[in-house]
Amino acid sequence: MVRTASWLAAGMGMAWLAAAPPPAAADEPPVELTAEQDHQRMMKQLGITEIRPGANGRDPAAPNAANYDESKGNPYPDLPPVLTLANGKPVKDARTWWKKRRPELVELFDREVYGRIPADVPGVAWEVTESREEIVGGKPVLFRKLVGRVDNAAYPLIQVNIEVELTTPRAARGVPVVVEFFPFEFRGRFPPPPPPTWQEQVAARGWAYAILSTSTIQADNGAGLTRGIIGLVNKGRPREPDDWGALRAWAWGASRLLDFLETTPEVDAQRAVIEGVSRFGKASLVTMAYEPRFAIGFVGSSGMGGAALHRRRIGELLENVAGSGEYHWMAGNYIKYAGPLTPRDLPVDSHELIALAAPRPLFIGAGNPAQGDAWVDPRGMFMATVAAAPVWELLGKKGLDTAEFPPIETSLTTGELAYRQHAGGHTSGPNWPTFLEFAARYFESRQ
Ligand code: GCU
Repeated sequence: MVRTASWLAAGMGMAWLAAAPPPAAADEPPVELTAEQDHQRMMKQLGITEIRPGANGRDPAAPNAANYDESKGNPYPDLPPVLTLANGKPVKDARTWWKKRRPELVELFDREVYGRIPADVPGVAWEVTESREEIVGGKPVLFRKLVGRVDNAAYPLIQVNIEVELTTPRAARGVPVVVEFFPFEFRGRFPPPPPPTWQEQVAARGWAYAILSTSTIQADNGAGLTRGIIGLVNKGRPREPDDWGALRAWAWGASRLLDFLETTPEVDAQRAVIEGVSRFGKASLVTMAYEPRFAIGFVGSSGMGGAALHRRRIGELLENVAGSGEYHWMAGNYIKYAGPLTPRDLPVDSHELIALAAPRPLFIGAGNPAQGDAWVDPRGMFMATVAAAPVWELLGKKGLDTAEFPPIETSLTTGELAYRQHAGGHTSGPNWPTFLEFAARYFESRQ
């Protein structure tokens, strides 16, 4: 990784900033910063003094109250054309997509949006720490706890032990597996969904599932950026503007779990789903974009930073994600687009992120604005999906059924690119049966 001392020069006079230039010594403790301090530090490094405030999603009377008026929702209606090369030439065949256009988009998402994974991320050694037989949805299963220990020889002050729970049908051999992003400490925070749970539905099909505790890879806050896998690789130093954020770190963890699943005879790692809701919906879309080995994606209520267009002004804004509470999901460079640049200056938008998953099956889900899922801009996610569809078509697959925004509970699932808005709130719960039917079309026809 190329390092510069720019972050040092940027914020003179702050003790925490002047601490020590990288590369850090192996026995020097991680830099301690609050999210606000690290966010300020990154803004200084980017040469920004101020960013525009995000939308207020809680108080409709606030001056910056979130907008839900469609007539004001599209201030930048022109999207960057997904099938046009940087030199202006159209992409007319699959080869040009794979060789030229896709790498261009990957570079832009790396640099400006989600950050780069460093070349020197250490390896992970997986181990089963617990194993027992259970019954899920009436089916006998084997439940295992896994820990993926990241080699920290280069910087022993940070330990990263990735926690996973893997459940496979008893006596399974080579079955499909659904991987969900979900931090274990979130358990019990949400009211239990009506049965059957998604796990019961997956088990009823004879498939396996694994839950990946995201916070054991990378903390879900800016203060944690000098720790976790990002901090380990940086030896406890803060990030450079194009370093990876938490979404890419979580996606990296999913790839490492897939490495383990490739060695697990109970499952067929070639039939693996990556799934998550909300910030973990964003992570599952980023995973599909960057990890070609995941066969199918289920992206739930992912909103801004996920499938929603950055150029929209409905519900959550780019400015929210660029703020100190959420910027850690992204590359530092993303903050620039909240001031003085605007979302229109972003060289890519989320339709192009979605397109990076092509031609694999991808299900974009949303809930009902009237039930609490307005913040994620379901229509903006649909617009991005529509704009991504030509890439599936170019690669010989079927895109979206229609370009017209459908009524709630309409399943647009006949192509490889699917969209469905369910009648519930900020969850994927009611979309699971439709998603599993969609996935089964690919997974069960191969048996
Ligand atoms: C906040 C945030 C969203 C995020 C959500 C979640 O609402 O603004 O971007 O998706 O939290 O993860 O629950």
